[in-house]
Amino acid sequence: VFIHRFKGLRDLEEEVGERLQIKKVIVVPEMIQDGEIALKEIGKAAANYLKSTVQSKMIIGITGGSTMAAVAEEMGKEQGKFQDVIVVPARGGLGKDVDKQANTIAAKIAGKLGGTYKLLYMPDNIDKNVFSTLSEDPVIKDVMEYIEKIQVLIFGIGRADKMAIRRGLSPAELQDLAQKGAVSEAFGYYFNRNGEIIREVNTIGVSLKKFKELKLVIGAAAGAEKAEAVVAISRLNANLVLVIDESLAREILKIK
Ligand code: BG6
Repeated sequence: VFIHRFKGLRDLEEEVGERLQIKKVIVVPEMIQDGEIALKEIGKAAANYLKSTVQSKMIIGITGGSTMAAVAEEMGKEQGKFQDVIVVPARGGLGKDVDKQANTIAAKIAGKLGGTYKLLYMPDNIDKNVFSTLSEDPVIKDVMEYIEKIQVLIFGIGRADKMAIRRGLSPAELQDLAQKGAVSEAFGYYFNRNGEIIREVNTIGVSLKKFKELKLVIGAAAGAEKAEAVVAISRLNANLVLVIDESLAREILKIK
């Protein structure tokens, strides 16, 4: 039974990869715990894949969110192998939950790898004037330079509607997003089904241009409800490695 099941997942990986035309797809079994999607397997698989790609002096960018928090949690500790690796948050902070902030996650992953990290002391959504003043700060400038030098980005993928609520957008802004067909949110940008940008969060962080140029981007997501969100992101960069669960993989294959 186990071997049969294993083969099923490998077939799914191939099918989704072909459908989305991206570099690689990793599918893990779906896990539900207390009625909620458990992110342990996704976290483990994404962490292992990331580790397999890490090279000396690499600069790794990471976003926040519960999926990335699981990556940090599930990553096994390394001894001495990756001392010169630097982990940087790809965006400013978000929300009240410190465990899910990119800063916290970057620090934790750096700790697991035995490397170092940078912190971005900046909230996620700030006023334009404050933004330009803060951008002059030497510490923030330093982090911005590292963000520009990210070689691999590992990031969570969210539904536009849910992320907009999490980010505290106003009812009018929510309606505007819906009207413009936003389905996906990742690293501070909202996208429609075709991967076209609908709105961007006004903060310091990895730019869409930079994202599209990266040779390796690792996106992780779980749950069938994220299917449209994931498909939209897959249009941005063919070097995407996708780590998803089985139910999400099956739902992606149902989209047109
Ligand atoms: C955010 C990321 O922190 O997490 C987004 O910046 C992503 O890229 C979101 O959409 C996903 O969150 P979660 O909790 O569903 O993993």
